[in-house]
Amino acid sequence: MAISYIGTLLAFGAVVSTALSVPTQLNSQIECTRAALIAAADAYVAAQTAGKLDALQTFLSKNWTYQENNKVVDSTAGVLVKSLKLDHRRTNIDTGLCASFTELIATDAANPYVIGTQIHHNTDDLKIQLIDSVASTTNSWAFNASKTLSYLVKEKWDPIPESKWDSRAVIQAAGNIYMDVWSNASAQAAIPFGTPCARLEGSAYTGKDSPTDSCAVGLPSNHSQKANINRRYVIDQSMGSVNILCLWQHMMNAADSHEFRLEGGKLRYVHTMTECGGKACKL
Ligand SMILES: *[C@@H]1O[C@H](CO)[C@@H](O)[C@H](O)[C@H]1NC(C)=O
Ligand SMILES: *[C@@H]1O[C@H](CO)[C@@H](O)[C@H](O)[C@H]1NC(C)=O
Ligand SMILES: *[C@@H]1O[C@H](CO)[C@@H](O)[C@H](O)[C@H]1NC(C)=O
Ligand SMILES: *[C@@H]1O[C@H](CO)[C@@H](O)[C@H](O)[C@H]1NC(C)=O
Repeated sequence: MAISYIGTLLAFGAVVSTALSVPTQLNSQIECTRAALIAAADAYVAAQTAGKLDALQTFLSKNWTYQENNKVVDSTAGVLVKSLKLDHRRTNIDTGLCASFTELIATDAANPYVIGTQIHHNTDDLKIQLIDSVASTTNSWAFNASKTLSYLVKEKWDPIPESKWDSRAVIQAAGNIYMDVWSNASAQAAIPFGTPCARLEGSAYTGKDSPTDSCAVGLPSNHSQKANINRRYVIDQSMGSVNILCLWQHMMNAADSHEFRLEGGKLRYVHTMTECGGKACKL
């Protein structure tokens, strides 16, 4: 304890040395703010655009981990060092878990990607501990980046007024019960479906631009499949959203990203990306 306390003070001292207006917090950890998490996510997006880690370096902890499609990989060998022409970026912020989730789309036919990235930070010095990405591309489930983008731009993911926020627990529970449908016959009935609601799975869209659009269509009827496990979460109350990265055991042990948006406690949107170890995804 004593050692990590000193470590915190030293790290904090280094940070404030060039920012004298920041009040000294001798007895507490550095606060995990939206601004700090957004700055790191911006650096991540800059790195992905450049195809170089440079912009990220000052944000990374010494022992950070890069995980891509559920595997720890060398950060200098993954998609992060491919320069991508990004057409879309949205970042959701979780100050509670000191993490962010960024959705990226690159429609460039030479290098098409739809990427979902969680960034998890240390709570003592706010440095990045883990960059955890599902990077879907050709061969991934229903992959077509430009088609995905064409649906996505019509959706409204505007910030929700604070007086209307759902609790973290409500948002997380809705995502979890949805993820349980494959392995629990009682789960589907417990999903708080809203109307309208639309699912964007790869580039397959259930929405028809109608006020009666439903997300209850075409969900698996076999509830005896292997569970969706190793779930990692990023929850943003101001977006009504939870992103869940997991192991999609029942489809080639794929790497999967499911993001849920709730409005007023009801499910409004679902976005998914599923990558099957470089092979063509199939049921
Ligand atoms: C990385 O270092 C931090 C701070 O020293 C420590 O708390 C953490 O457990 C380490 N993580 C790993 C994966 O080694
Ligand atoms: C993606 O979908 C569009 C239609 O939205 C189609 O014109 C295009 O050929 C598709 N691209 C690929 C690579 O399948
Ligand atoms: C299955 O889902 C129902 C409805 O939410 C829940 O009550 C039950 O505990 C779940 N069963 C398991 C084994 O998780
Ligand atoms: C449901 O999925 C399990 C696991 O994949 C499989 O063994 C079983 O045959 C499936 N049941 C039906 C009715 O398709």
